[in-house]
Amino acid sequence: MRKQVTTAQIRQHSSNGYKEKGMNKVGTRQIETGKIIGNISVVQVREDIGEALIGYCMSREYWGHEYMPEALKAVIDYLFDVAGMNRVVASHDVNNPKSGRVMQKAGMKYEGTLRQAGHNMQGIVDLCYYSVIKSDREQQ
Ligand SMILES: CC(C)(COP(=O)(O)OP(=O)(O)OC[C@H]1O[C@@H](n2cnc3c(N)ncnc32)[C@H](O)[C@@H]1OP(=O)(O)O)[C@@H](O)C(=O)NCCC(=O)NCCS
Repeated sequence: MRKQVTTAQIRQHSSNGYKEKGMNKVGTRQIETGKIIGNISVVQVREDIGEALIGYCMSREYWGHEYMPEALKAVIDYLFDVAGMNRVVASHDVNNPKSGRVMQKAGMKYEGTLRQAGHNMQGIVDLCYYSVIKSDREQQ
């Protein structure tokens, strides 16, 4: 099946960014054109528990093709298999359920909603948290 995003490039970018800065920003690249259409970032690492907190966004004109779930899966694979993480976590504004759909499609599990735990253009917002832990993957 044709890949929409280039997993090999995601791994390469991840590797370079992680080694150089301890965090990284990975381009989501459309294979037909090679154009970067979004990004996924590791925004925080907790070394004590092997946790990476990730965030992502993509240009609106490319929404709806499942590019982001595919790219997110590749980054999650990288974080477990190469960077040696034990837990990958992400959150979204409770009023932005489409972002939660991306997390679900990438195999992340809903953990709960923290009240007034985030801040964005809408002000202070409730955040829904999703995660994958290493043992989830071992069960698959
Ligand atoms: C989340 C985001 C990356 C979507 O990625 P994507 O590649 O379009 O993902 P999908 O194609 O799987 O679509 C996910 C959901 O978005 C919604 N969606 C898809 N296309 C859409 C469109 N054109 N307009 C509005 N919503 C749309 C749907 O609810 C879809 O879920 P469904 O497949 O169950 O119907 C994009 O919405 C985005 O950049 N959002 C802003 C940043 C953000 O929310 N970041 C999360 C914080 S970490």
